[in-house]
Amino acid sequence: MKKIVVIWSSPNKDGLTHSAAASLIEGMRKGGAEVEEVWLNGLDMRHCMACGSGYGACRSEGRCVIPDDFKELYDKLAEADGIVFVTAVYWHDLTEVMKAFTDRLRRCESAHNHYLAEKKAYIAACAGGTGNGATECLVRLEDTLRHMGVRTWDRMPVTRFNKDYNVPSLAKGGELFAVRLEEGFR
Ligand SMILES: Cc1cc2nc3c(=O)[nH]c(=O)nc-3n(C[C@H](O)[C@H](O)[C@H](O)COP(=O)(O)O)c2cc1C
Repeated sequence: MKKIVVIWSSPNKDGLTHSAAASLIEGMRKGGAEVEEVWLNGLDMRHCMACGSGYGACRSEGRCVIPDDFKELYDKLAEADGIVFVTAVYWHDLTEVMKAFTDRLRRCESAHNHYLAEKKAYIAACAGGTGNGATECLVRLEDTLRHMGVRTWDRMPVTRFNKDYNVPSLAKGGELFAVRLEEGFR
């Protein structure tokens, strides 16, 4: 059975972002995957301090010196077959918490470890205001993943105008993602 880790970020446990993540998870379980859900805002996730002269232990040892929940979550991703990021859109960008996590992940990954290289990802951005910035947020997230060699298989912008059809379609996308993980991507 393939393992998928779904990391989602919003301070609201019952908002648009959570409904998108829940739909993906439902579909992935239907597609036969073992899914672990991680509510990122519930973790202690601090931001990179650019220690050393810009690069610290992330480059020399593939680890971050900040003692918080980063390492445990990184280890989960390293063990997963598929990885999923669902973020609320703030300022046309990732939430600050998702940004903090992916910034540190990118450093350890691309500079040293390469545990996530070639893993498949599914990403979604939930813009609950005007809807502006959903695509920019996805572009930024996908670019960060590309630095790590992670392959984004699909990406979904969710707004309050398309949620009635995009949230349910995430379940179908999630199901197919799980099936492809098991049977191979074409
Ligand atoms: C600081 C901040 C910045 C935001 N920026 C945007 C934005 O650029 N575009 C947009 O459509 N919504 C924006 N919003 C609205 C959030 O995307 C919206 O609150 C989010 O989808 C709600 O998700 P949730 O229900 O999971 O909290 C912003 C909200 C906050 C708090």
